Amino acid sequence: MSNAKKQTTVLDIQRMKAEAEKIAVLTAYDYPLARLMDLAGIDMVLVGDSVGPVVAGYDNTLPVTMDEMLYHSRAVARGVTDALVVADMPFLSYQVDLAEARRNAGRLVKEGGAQAVKLEGGENVAATIRAIVEMDVPVVGHIGLTPQSIHRMGGYRVQGKGDQSRQMIADARAVQEAGAFAVVLEAIPAPLAREITEILSIPTIGIGAGVACDGQVLVIHDILGLCEKYSPKFVKRYADAAALISGGIADYIREVKAGEFPTEEHSFK
Ligand code: KIV
Repeated sequence: MSNAKKQTTVLDIQRMKAEAEKIAVLTAYDYPLARLMDLAGIDMVLVGDSVGPVVAGYDNTLPVTMDEMLYHSRAVARGVTDALVVADMPFLSYQVDLAEARRNAGRLVKEGGAQAVKLEGGENVAATIRAIVEMDVPVVGHIGLTPQSIHRMGGYRVQGKGDQSRQMIADARAVQEAGAFAVVLEAIPAPLAREITEILSIPTIGIGAGVACDGQVLVIHDILGLCEKYSPKFVKRYADAAALISGGIADYIREVKAGEFPTEEHSFK
């Protein structure tokens, strides 16, 4: 038997909750960053539909298509050998009917190389989660601030405050009962996230949901300081990659203009 590390599975992610080991998740949209985070030991890589605003420059996630998700999933999957790869189901890929939802979930696995898919919603998507799980495609739920519902929410606002908290707990239970193996809790009060984490047997992955969640997810461009568009309170910047990249580009331009690049070292005899 080989000693090579096996790729993380949904069972490993669930075992981590049982063993109180925190789950580290980041988004990735391309091969080089996926490879770097995989080598650094990330547990789960999410090919988020945040690719729309973050990489394509869209105003929100709504325009992201299945073709775009498949392209980015394939690139990420090629860069990852150890982590679990989860791909987001984009808006309108699972809302219309169950057959379409199942086909699109299957495509993200078959053509996109993902091991699981994520979709947004609670009680309202329980039947969809069940239908996808029944074809043996593992599902991550996503409740709280669900960016595909931006027009209903009237913007990106903290969800689950006051009276809304009971519905949030019902949504969390519905997602688990429908067969999801984990659930993202986005932008909800920390005490509510703690309560949901204690109620559920599946792992909760928080983003702006406090420290009690079983794991945390952030957008890679946010933690590297590469996204100037939004800066939510829950983001922590771990590097200033924008300054590094801008400095490198400025040096290149200066050297080309000054005739300092290329030198003999970069030229053929
Ligand atoms: O698309 C995304 O990046 C996400 C995470 C923020 C959870 O859904």
